[in-house]
Amino acid sequence: MRLFVALDIPAEVRRAISKTIARLRDVARGARWLRAEGVHVTLKFIGEMPAERVPAIEEALRAAGVAEPVAARFRGVGFFPNERHPRVFWAGVEASSNLAELARDVDQRLSRLGIAAETREFRPHLTLARFKSEDGLPRLREEIKKLEPLDFGSMRASEFYLFQSELGRGGAKYTKLANFRFGGGA
Ligand code: 2AM
Repeated sequence: MRLFVALDIPAEVRRAISKTIARLRDVARGARWLRAEGVHVTLKFIGEMPAERVPAIEEALRAAGVAEPVAARFRGVGFFPNERHPRVFWAGVEASSNLAELARDVDQRLSRLGIAAETREFRPHLTLARFKSEDGLPRLREEIKKLEPLDFGSMRASEFYLFQSELGRGGAKYTKLANFRFGGGA
């Protein structure tokens, strides 16, 4: 099973994201857009795991958390690794500092199960598109300038999820396998 850990986003933010995706969808042929329902804040990509390891992963995640809910504002857009030769188009996540602490805690607890620890800095983002080619990229950059400044709203999160990702022809399908409360949430 292909697994990852993520925060979900509220319906209003999803709607705002969906509008922006709709405006940009047909602009760049090289871009593969996510379904708005699939947009999330990845905390940790686990990768392929045998199904029998899921209970141990869930147990480790139940112990993970930070003391307060995470506050986040979704604003701005950008490209990874850079605007000239991008692989990913994202919306920005401006979060309270405990988001990075939460990601680190999840990473450390999973690393004790033998899941490779992150070596790169945690850069929270919402992936909106991945690029198959650079076709239409200049036009996409122009259209984005017309939409800026982009503000998708905010949230307070006190729950994260273990997701399964199933790769298919129409893009990946993400399913929540379990939820984990933190930050004083019941
Ligand atoms: P991202 O889109 O938030 O950048 C499920 O596939 C999620 O795990 C994706 O949304 C992606 O995060 C992340 N992911 C997928 N493949 C990855 C990889 N090889 N390394 C790190 N993160 C990955």
